[in-house]
Amino acid sequence: MQRSLVLLKPDCVQRGLMGKVISRFEEKGLAIIAMKMIHVTPELSAKHYAEHAEKPFYPSLESFITSAPVLAMAIEGLEAITVIRDMLGATNGLKAAPGTIRGDFSSSRQMNLVHASDSEESAKRELDLYFSEGEFCSFENAM
Ligand code: CMP
Repeated sequence: MQRSLVLLKPDCVQRGLMGKVISRFEEKGLAIIAMKMIHVTPELSAKHYAEHAEKPFYPSLESFITSAPVLAMAIEGLEAITVIRDMLGATNGLKAAPGTIRGDFSSSRQMNLVHASDSEESAKRELDLYFSEGEFCSFENAM
């Protein structure tokens, strides 16, 4: 079993796509074990996206991710990190394959709807930024 941090970004929330995206994860048989709406602060953005801090696009990324609330989720399942990344598709919505979440709903590199952890190490680090241990629920997943 793996856990991943998944963020439905401001564009996903503002376009009213949360339900559609959550349904994809549920239909795949993944378990949402924690979920909350939060407004990302510049400080949290800097920690979350530390690896991009020096990139030229960081100021624009920070301004986007702090512009409106996000829905933060902890999602659990077999090989969840790879499975979720595959479901999202390529980072750039314009390049993402049809059938993936970004391929179906995004045409932007920055406003690509969803963030998901890319390794077990980053999942642990990112989950610690958004959730405390007591916020994770466990339940029988019927899938
Ligand atoms: P995400 O998977 O959350 O990881 C880093 C984010 O930075 C990425 O999705 C995009 O939202 C954004 N991003 C990545 N590359 C670029 C880029 N070249 N220009 C603008 N934004 C980018």
